[in-house]
Amino acid sequence: MTTPTKAILTFDNGAAPIELPVQAGTYGPDVIDIRALNQHGYLTYDPGFMSTASCTSGISFIDGEAGVLYYRGYPIEQLVQHADFLEVAWLLLFGELPLPAEKADFSQQVRRNAMLHDQINNVFRGFRRDAHPMAVMVGVTGAMSAFYHDSSDVFDAASRVQTAVHLIGKVPTIAAMSYKYNMGEPFVYPQYQLGYAENFLHMMFSTPCESYEVNPVLARALDRIFILHADHEQNASTSTVRLAGSSGANPYACIAAGMASLWGPLHGGANEAVLKMLAEIGDVSRIPEFIERAKDKQNPFRLMGFGHRIYKNMDPRAAFMRQTCHEVLEELDLVDDPLFRIALELERIALQDEYFIARKLYPNVDFYSGIVFRALGIPPSMFTAIFALARTVGWVAQWNEMLADSSHRIGRPRQHYNGATRRDYVPEHLRGA
Ligand code: SDX
Repeated sequence: MTTPTKAILTFDNGAAPIELPVQAGTYGPDVIDIRALNQHGYLTYDPGFMSTASCTSGISFIDGEAGVLYYRGYPIEQLVQHADFLEVAWLLLFGELPLPAEKADFSQQVRRNAMLHDQINNVFRGFRRDAHPMAVMVGVTGAMSAFYHDSSDVFDAASRVQTAVHLIGKVPTIAAMSYKYNMGEPFVYPQYQLGYAENFLHMMFSTPCESYEVNPVLARALDRIFILHADHEQNASTSTVRLAGSSGANPYACIAAGMASLWGPLHGGANEAVLKMLAEIGDVSRIPEFIERAKDKQNPFRLMGFGHRIYKNMDPRAAFMRQTCHEVLEELDLVDDPLFRIALELERIALQDEYFIARKLYPNVDFYSGIVFRALGIPPSMFTAIFALARTVGWVAQWNEMLADSSHRIGRPRQHYNGATRRDYVPEHLRGA
């Protein structure tokens, strides 16, 4: 059936119908343009934005029923196999795969922007050593707004690209420094000659006391994990960055807001929660008990790493995370890792259970990532920090796309008011009379 050109809203009280334009996208549901509704005295009501397209974007596309994810039209399964993270970062930012010279120049720019202003080391010192790395990342990334003024003109395209290079270069350094600070170990400076994922592992795990060689298999696995987490349409944290950025706010403060949203256990914090859940299950024999808890409406427990607002089929990223998990465990001779065994069995049982089948609940990107990170020696408190490191590329690409659109406006949702009717002030001595 062809896309309709308009939708006609009729009312059962005889009010005149309202005609609203309908637009088709490249893929995905047609959209009904409701912008004219408020002129007729109506608003739409959609808490959680289950049926709302908040913007037009060409950066990524998810087909939840088919379990498909494209970055600028390229299937995630091709990018994760053939591309590297900085190539994908260029693609998300500029819309095309980079030419060799573009890729070399961009990689060089990002590498040479990996070091932080040395004064920022003092910002870390303000935190308790046991602060959660995400608390430190949110704080330090926000503090970048007090340091990098060469990229604060958000309405200038070149300035926005400089912002992107600063963030893509420096967020891994902030993440690694958050870990070192938490561990009480000295900060490790980036090495410009290292690759992106290689440099991150170097900053995380090398110490002044011995030489540290990055395992190239693990670095490649981490680079793929960064690609899988880079962008994902208008998820909660990306929508946070867009709304904050729509006012023209400082970009580093906007990215810090995105990190804060991602930290939530229902969003990017799920990978840490998955590992805690697998450890609590402890043995495959206890899986049925936890499946029953997840199905019990009286019990707030949910199977962490399962379900998704859009994917009603396997999250394509989860399949690659499972494969990467197996490769890393094999490289490290940990294929009998008990948590991996429990995860595989939990997935198998859940996918056969009517409750999960009826609700189309499948493993999502967070289900296996925690096991991989743990095998890489990364503590659970750093899992979301790594998700934030990778998603920074998507956030800054979406922020840039929004501000490059001259028709963009400050985001200002309305509400459905259900509060008190108008009433007069009651002096204190008459209250409760
Ligand atoms: C990410 O948006 C993105 O793109 C996010 C992300 C990205 O890349 O940015 O993909 C990253 O956030 C992945 C999701 C990580 N979160 C988790 O794994 C936490 C566990 N999953 C959920 O809490 C839940 O599935 C959500 C939050 C992911 C989705 O929530 P929705 O879309 O609001 O779904 P829902 O809560 O309306 O659930 C529908 C039904 C409910 O049952 P009924 O009321 O219909 O009987 O499914 C049930 C829910 O109770 N359900 C689950 C469940 N997830 C949903 N039941 C048990 N375990 C679960 N995990």
